[in-house]
Amino acid sequence: MLFLTRIEHFNAAHKLYNPEWSKEKNELVFGKCANENWHGHNYELHVTIKGEVAADTGFVINAKILSSLINDFVLEKLDHKNLNMDVPFLKGKMCSTENLAIEIWKQLLPHLPEGVQMHCIKLYETPRIFVEYFGN
Ligand code: NI
Repeated sequence: MLFLTRIEHFNAAHKLYNPEWSKEKNELVFGKCANENWHGHNYELHVTIKGEVAADTGFVINAKILSSLINDFVLEKLDHKNLNMDVPFLKGKMCSTENLAIEIWKQLLPHLPEGVQMHCIKLYETPRIFVEYFGN
């Protein structure tokens, strides 16, 4: 079993705001992230897949294929977008880095070539804060 990671970047705006709570409670729980007029992050995304190395290519996955899957199913939908308003797969969800990582996993999983499995979505919201999702 071999693991391969592709690193990508995207920029996006969001706010953390639970509409079922008062303005005061939102500000208490989410602080600056509850700012009604949005704020942005430079996200760094690490997509790690795993599988066996094929004898004929020496690859676990063709890195160009992985790159275009990430581009088509993740970056095209998130980069320079407002996560709360522009992204169908985040509709109705809190736009936290945690939920974003889970949804990125779900977007990529059905498109991986046969024999290739998702291992981890690691998503940096800032250079000092990241989440990791392993599928459960
Ligand atoms: Ni934020």
